[in-house]
Amino acid sequence: MTYKIKTLISTSRIQKRISELGKEITGYYKNKVSEEKPLVVIIVQKGASIFGADLIRKIKLPLDLRFMRVVSYRGKTRPQSDPEIFDEIKSGIEDDHVLVIEDILDTGKTLVFIKGYLTKLQPKSLNFAVLLVKKINRVVRTPRIKFKAFNIPNKFVIGYGLDHNEIYRNLPYIGTIED
Ligand code: IMP
Ligand code: MG
Repeated sequence: MTYKIKTLISTSRIQKRISELGKEITGYYKNKVSEEKPLVVIIVQKGASIFGADLIRKIKLPLDLRFMRVVSYRGKTRPQSDPEIFDEIKSGIEDDHVLVIEDILDTGKTLVFIKGYLTKLQPKSLNFAVLLVKKINRVVRTPRIKFKAFNIPNKFVIGYGLDHNEIYRNLPYIGTIED
């Protein structure tokens, strides 16, 4: 089945905003990290993989790239259950500055979960860079998003890493799906 897709955020708007965000992040961490003590950047798979790949190339600092995978949607357009962690960051972030790159803040459950999990590993600081923040009433108190690219309305979005049933992640723009 194919859906009608409406562009919400164009490729050029995304790229322009990512350059700005990269500068902000670089400025914020410039005097905090070094080659001996790089910024630990964790890209949350799979949704933030495209955003993360573009964003890290705009961060002009020594960084140590990691990945983690959290599953919360299971092929539906609404959250089905509590988030679950797959590939874990087992250790090695103690006393590091950590920046988590995530695709979207919807109910907030995933970020709260990630924050709880990583805080236990005792980083020196923990911040979030999020591509999209949905305008909704959150079900949980969410962590502060230090680096945010866009606010969006409460619609299901796809593209630029975000999927619907695992499809559409490779769209170069962000769209809404009309079902
Ligand atoms: P939350 O836990 O409800 O904040 O949901 C966050 C996760 O759900 C994100 O990491 C996404 O993977 C997924 N998600 C939430 N909203 C959308 C959407 O509109 N399109 C695609 N995935 C979404
Ligand atoms: Mg996700």
